[in-house]
Amino acid sequence: MIYPVIWQNNSVLLIDQTRLPNEYAVVEIHRSEDMAQAIKTMIVRGAPAIGVAAAYGMYLGAREIETSQRHEFLQHLEKVAELLRSTRPTAVNLFWAISRMLKTAHESLGTVAQIKESLLQTAQAINAEDLQTCQAIGDHGLAVLPKTPHKLTLLTHCNAGALATAGYGTALGVVRSAWREGRLERLFADETRPRLQGAKLTTWECVQEGIPVTLITDNMAAHCMKQGLIDAVVVGADRIAANGDAANKIGTYSLAIVAKAHNVPFFVAAPLSTIDFALSDGSKIPIEERNSEEIYQVGDTILTPAGVEFYNPAFDVTPANLITAIITENGAFAPSNLSNAQIQAVAL
Ligand code: MRU
Repeated sequence: MIYPVIWQNNSVLLIDQTRLPNEYAVVEIHRSEDMAQAIKTMIVRGAPAIGVAAAYGMYLGAREIETSQRHEFLQHLEKVAELLRSTRPTAVNLFWAISRMLKTAHESLGTVAQIKESLLQTAQAINAEDLQTCQAIGDHGLAVLPKTPHKLTLLTHCNAGALATAGYGTALGVVRSAWREGRLERLFADETRPRLQGAKLTTWECVQEGIPVTLITDNMAAHCMKQGLIDAVVVGADRIAANGDAANKIGTYSLAIVAKAHNVPFFVAAPLSTIDFALSDGSKIPIEERNSEEIYQVGDTILTPAGVEFYNPAFDVTPANLITAIITENGAFAPSNLSNAQIQAVAL
């Protein structure tokens, strides 16, 4: 199994996802500032993994606070939260995990030392729960994947795998479960310009586990669907609005349009912590813009002449009407029926 975030010997170990697949390196994080930097620079990335990393970042920050006065401690902890919140704007799991950590601190009635201990326990719980959540998402996905006489060929975009979560993955969780059950023929992976998470990370995960994978460039999906090569698309999400509109890696929206045009089912796999019920629709989801270098430079090679301007939104929003179902740990729901996922979540 691949675990991108591990708590070990009083520090956090992160698989450095900026170096894969050429180098498997682990970065050791001891301070909240370093965790914020690791999230910003995408050493750790993917919505649920960012949430888990931020939760540990909150504990590391708490550990750095020297006062024994509860009120002063909570004030300082709010500063740590602010720093971590400022790293990446789109994935709501980041904000969800930080809020849960702050709630733990505020509700813990003991000494500052005891609050710190509760914070570590909550971060570890967030980590463990996400792993179980992903396994449940993967297995619920099996119920909605098309029933075909042949084994399935699925297409995914970006990396919503073990690397993007506590382990197992959301979209790749569905792929893993299908593979385990003998229902998967092959995964097609979009390369996912500009940062190439599909080419670098999704293929790496598949190769680790012997899942047959075919890499295509982002502009090949329509052609592949036209040829009947794709049975269903499964992607992850960074934030889902209450009406089912789903933000995910840039290019997901065009993939959903292409899938609709070819009658290929389009699934979004995500934990309930990715659903932002406070946002009525996807137009309110903040979209991160990243450096233009990501577009004009590949390795050391500059691709464009001087004088060109760039626009580099890292995510787009797929409207709910293009999504066949949203697969959560509580089951699969029509996007228009997401409130039922929430009711079940409250009931749990
Ligand atoms: O910019 P990234 O690599 O953090 O974007 C990741 C994605 O868009 C994933 O599809 C999403 O976070 C879901 S991860 C289970």
